[in-house]
Amino acid sequence: MKQIKVGTIGYGGAFNMGKHHLNDMMKNKGFVPAAVCDLDAKRLETAQTDFPGIQTYTDVDEMLRKSDVELLAIILPHNVHAKVAIQCMNAGRHVVVEKPFAITVKECDAMIAAGKKHKVVCSTFHNRHWDSNILTIKKHLHKIGRPFRWESYAGHYGEPGTWWRSYKDISGGVIYDWGAHFCEWMLQVMDYEMLEINGYQVKEVWKKFTNEDELEAVVRFKGNAVGSHVASTVSITGKDQIRIVGTKGAIVASHGSCDVYLKDKDNHTVKTSVKMEPAQNSEYYKNVHDHLFHGKKLVITPEWARRVIQILDYAGQSSEKGTGIKAKYK
Ligand SMILES: NC(=O)c1ccc[n+]([C@@H]2O[C@H](COP(=O)([O-])OP(=O)(O)OC[C@H]3O[C@@H](n4cnc5c(N)ncnc54)[C@H](O)[C@@H]3O)[C@@H](O)[C@H]2O)c1
Repeated sequence: MKQIKVGTIGYGGAFNMGKHHLNDMMKNKGFVPAAVCDLDAKRLETAQTDFPGIQTYTDVDEMLRKSDVELLAIILPHNVHAKVAIQCMNAGRHVVVEKPFAITVKECDAMIAAGKKHKVVCSTFHNRHWDSNILTIKKHLHKIGRPFRWESYAGHYGEPGTWWRSYKDISGGVIYDWGAHFCEWMLQVMDYEMLEINGYQVKEVWKKFTNEDELEAVVRFKGNAVGSHVASTVSITGKDQIRIVGTKGAIVASHGSCDVYLKDKDNHTVKTSVKMEPAQNSEYYKNVHDHLFHGKKLVITPEWARRVIQILDYAGQSSEKGTGIKAKYK
């Protein structure tokens, strides 16, 4: 039986994502945990406890020289995703980069080129592609006619925490955390060419931190359709997490609910709360496994992930310039 040695770069303590990745990978026969790298020796002790006998390294270069690990999940702060992924691909290793794929479109271009050059897998951990909410939305989407408007929102009012996620030069900005998931869902529903991205920011409340207080990304799609996502830390009133409007109805969804609004024959608006589809997040590594072992088509391609980053990157640039930015990748 063929085996592929797997590992992680980053074994951080915030959400214990390293353990989560390795356990998720191991649900697939043939993936064998081999190595973990983290700057923090304490986290390597945790990795040793979680996976006794696993090789541990504090330096990526050393790991790539000494270990024959073949597939690496890169679970690092956002500003080093591209650099470390390219370093690994140049050493002939497959990479799964945590979301967001990178901070800029330019970084995505360089990662895609490295993957092609070395004929290795370069993907992003968009495991939420298979979240319950988006699976349910997609099941019922046909009922609302042509979707022409996507609105999503992830916000609250509160000072950001003191961690790397609050500093724009490391995080990419306020929209790069959950925004990566919401914009990936937006693209699953708004299946049109992207034409232009606009961004609107507020930066005047949380002065200790360099992330925007709020950033809205607005995408103009071909064929009179628009998608927007708001990421906010200065929003006292909430709004629907996801609202999709179509030519025949609408869908309002959150993590745990999905309501479909349609007109009945008497022109009354009828709201139906539909049953949530079960999440299938393990599909991510199953697909990467089936791609590597059986040549199955990769679902989360780097080109798909780059479309998400194009929204986040260009929205930030647009909000600085005060003008829309033409999409490079449709
Ligand atoms: N998909 C999801 O649902 C989900 C959930 C949580 C986090 N994430 C993503 O995972 C990534 C990491 O987030 P986290 O919460 O694990 O952060 P974290 O701060 O807990 O961990 C980051 C780890 O990286 C290590 N590190 C930093 N630079 C390094 C380098 N050059 N070489 C080796 N190790 C290095 C640090 O020592 C730390 O242990 C981010 O991209 C984040 O957005 C995704």
